[in-house]
Amino acid sequence: MPDAGPSDTAAADEQAGAPPPRPYALVLFGASGFVGRQAAQYLAQHADMAGRPWAIAGRNQGRLEAVQARCSGQVPDIVLANARDTASLDTLASCTDVLISTTGPFAVLGNELVAACVRQHTHYVDITGETPWVRDLIARHHAHAADDGIRIVPMCGFDSVPSDLAAFLAHTTLMQRYGEPAYRVKAAYQVRGGFNGGTLASMFQLFESGEARMLTDPFLLNPPGMRPFNGPQHADPSSPRWDEDLGHWLAPFYMAPINSRVVRRSAALQGFSPDFAYREYLQTGAGLGGALAAGSLSFAEMVTQAALHWAPLRHLIRSYAPAPGTGPSEEAMNSGGFDCEWFARSASGKKVRGHISDRGDPGNRGTTKMVCESALALVLDVDELPGGRAAGGVLTPASAFGDVLVRRLRTAGMQIRVNPT
Ligand SMILES: NC(=O)c1ccc[n+]([C@@H]2O[C@H](COP(=O)([O-])OP(=O)(O)OC[C@H]3O[C@@H](n4cnc5c(N)ncnc54)[C@H](OP(=O)(O)O)[C@@H]3O)[C@@H](O)[C@H]2O)c1
Repeated sequence: MPDAGPSDTAAADEQAGAPPPRPYALVLFGASGFVGRQAAQYLAQHADMAGRPWAIAGRNQGRLEAVQARCSGQVPDIVLANARDTASLDTLASCTDVLISTTGPFAVLGNELVAACVRQHTHYVDITGETPWVRDLIARHHAHAADDGIRIVPMCGFDSVPSDLAAFLAHTTLMQRYGEPAYRVKAAYQVRGGFNGGTLASMFQLFESGEARMLTDPFLLNPPGMRPFNGPQHADPSSPRWDEDLGHWLAPFYMAPINSRVVRRSAALQGFSPDFAYREYLQTGAGLGGALAAGSLSFAEMVTQAALHWAPLRHLIRSYAPAPGTGPSEEAMNSGGFDCEWFARSASGKKVRGHISDRGDPGNRGTTKMVCESALALVLDVDELPGGRAAGGVLTPASAFGDVLVRRLRTAGMQIRVNPT
């Protein structure tokens, strides 16, 4: 670690009773993994950390040195820490203002790390999609983190930034244009990308631990006492349907049971109307082709869910799945992309619509951009974030970062559009 090196400002802060600056502005834990390696490159090339050093972290010096050697730009230091060693995690969390974790499965490897961040007053972002684990984080840490002004922000990758920002933009645009809150928001995705071994390992862990059964709760992540009436407007789509507003055939989207829970927590934390409802889908186009694709994708989703719940078949699928540490080829990641088209209306029928889209495999290129820009918002823009510097808790991307993340992602090349009318 570098010497903190008492600058004039630091000396003045210390005299005023403020703690001395930490050695690093930001540390990336899990930098030797498939997403971690991409995040290290992204930060080295894109990040101006206001002139402060940053670091990559993990359990294996040799693997981290290999990542460090490939970083062109602002080269990071190395910090060793093991997700199973609490003392090393406290040291890690205490040496930085902001910690990014790409170390998963999070339900297995994330508990002690988040606890260390809360103890050490360190802001935290990650790329988990494991909502049952996030529910436990909320129960254990939300109140304490809120009191202490620490932002703990899971789900800052492709799950669930685009969905969360779509609902945020829908609500804020309806309020700005018409003074009316969002009542119904729907999002329809097109996705081109692959699966990482690490993502599949996390998904299998979810089913093997028995926690997958919690995914059916539409308000899994809502604050206690803020669970609206569980009507059909909150049900996860399970069959093909034509949508007049979007002008497409729609099929169930495998990420909807994850993203919609995050959007509902956001809505509760940001004080949207109690009647607010959000649903999301895969879009398959118009006409007969769209209808046939929606029908076959609905059937495929039903079969996949059944297979994952049945242990013998799950073990068989697992034996053919790519190993952790691996993922799609560079070419496949560069040729991927996603488009999230959203539509919203107020209770009186005022409408807004827009798109969020980007080039590159969303689970890798997109996730890397989203989590790094979320972390950089904490490093560089903390005073502009919703609630200002003092806000904290186990938050969602939209409630933690709001417009700041929209602006950062646009600057980083993501298309985030709200149609003029
Ligand atoms: N939100 C999204 O869209 C999205 C997209 C992709 C991935 N993910 C999630 O992100 C996670 C990582 O994915 P990935 O593909 O990068 O997985 P991966 O390649 O398997 O990387 C896992 C990382 O965890 C580290 N690790 C494992 N055990 C550790 C320990 N005891 N102490 C410290 N570090 C440890 C590994 O270090 P070693 O190199 O030392 O083994 C590696 O750096 C998964 O949970 C996945 O589901 C989410």
